[in-house]
Amino acid sequence: MPASDSDLYLKIRPLLFRLDPEQSHRLVLGLLGGTCRIPGVTALVRARYARRVPALPVDVLGLRFPNPVGLAAGLDKDARYIHPLAALGFGWLELGTVTPQPQPGSAKPRLFRIPGHHALINRMGFNSDGLQAFVANLAGRAKPCLLGINIGKNASTPLEHAQDDYIAALRAVYIHAAYVAINISSPNTPGLRELQERERLGRLLQELKTEQAALARAHQLYVPLALKVAPDLSDEQFAFIADAVLASGIDAVIATNTTLARPGLENELIGRESGGLSGRPLKSLALNSVRVLFRHMGGRVPIIGVGGIENANDAWERLVAGADLVQIYTAMIFEGPKIVKQIVQGLAERVARSGEQSLSAAVAAERRRVATTELKDTA
Ligand code: FNR
Repeated sequence: MPASDSDLYLKIRPLLFRLDPEQSHRLVLGLLGGTCRIPGVTALVRARYARRVPALPVDVLGLRFPNPVGLAAGLDKDARYIHPLAALGFGWLELGTVTPQPQPGSAKPRLFRIPGHHALINRMGFNSDGLQAFVANLAGRAKPCLLGINIGKNASTPLEHAQDDYIAALRAVYIHAAYVAINISSPNTPGLRELQERERLGRLLQELKTEQAALARAHQLYVPLALKVAPDLSDEQFAFIADAVLASGIDAVIATNTTLARPGLENELIGRESGGLSGRPLKSLALNSVRVLFRHMGGRVPIIGVGGIENANDAWERLVAGADLVQIYTAMIFEGPKIVKQIVQGLAERVARSGEQSLSAAVAAERRRVATTELKDTA
């Protein structure tokens, strides 16, 4: 028997964790990408990690996701590793954030691990090879799975012209994407989160919807738009964003990006690094964001839940709270690639235990049960 997946990753993890975090991410992706170029290796990786479970496909956004566990944006910013990453069993990959022009991102070091909390702080600042390189990496290649493409603005573009960057990026990636994610929630591009504010958001969403309609006509292809939001918003701000999404016809919301808060990290020196926090300490903030958005949008707009999901229980909880799909990033850095299969299998077991035929039916039944219990408790 070969070493189990967990043994393998957990064995090399201490070595990886001795390296600078960004270097070790690059090393692992490079190794994965390199070995998967050897004929037959991608198929072997797929056989080891990917699981097709008949009960797990999710039909949402006019797309069929083979399972609800996706890779969150930020790991494959330039669409370089789609084949090896897809082989790890993700239901889909979200690539990017890609910016129109190449830009180096923030000064290094800009990525920090907090192992005791299974958390990362990053201030990458949209390091991107730019649209041209991104599209060249995708064009003419078979897609191994559904690809969401996350777009952002260049740091040098003034906020008043942000829409020009988003429109340029939407045009360039449109035909390559299963959906396009509009990232206005990274904490590391100065001013970016101001796009979530009332006036600006309404205008931006409207312009993007108009462009989407033009592109849909031109290509005879409707590619949904998803808005990625921050967790650091008040209930009132979430309500306003939900209204703006409903009014504009944005197709989905991704909740959430990293947080500027430092919950539970008061005694961690590294917690003082500036940037967005992800992983375990983000979990309840991100979960609450899904709950609040689901309440405001009443199930009319699909939600992709992301932030601190580490296992099948977390994924299930996020789905029951209102998400249709989930994504992971930080947990994979701490637990290794086997985490995808574990979550997929854990969700399959949930469906089997529920007696329902599909994940969506099992989640719907659980949401009804929770709602009835809450009603009884308040009666
Ligand atoms: C991210 N994230 C991110 N999000 C995004 O929309 N565009 C991006 O470019 C990035 N870049 C990025 C880099 C690094 C190093 C990390 C850790 C995260 C945020 C990511 O997609 C996700 O929303 C959060 O990390 C929360 O999920 P996890 O990591 O807690 O599962």
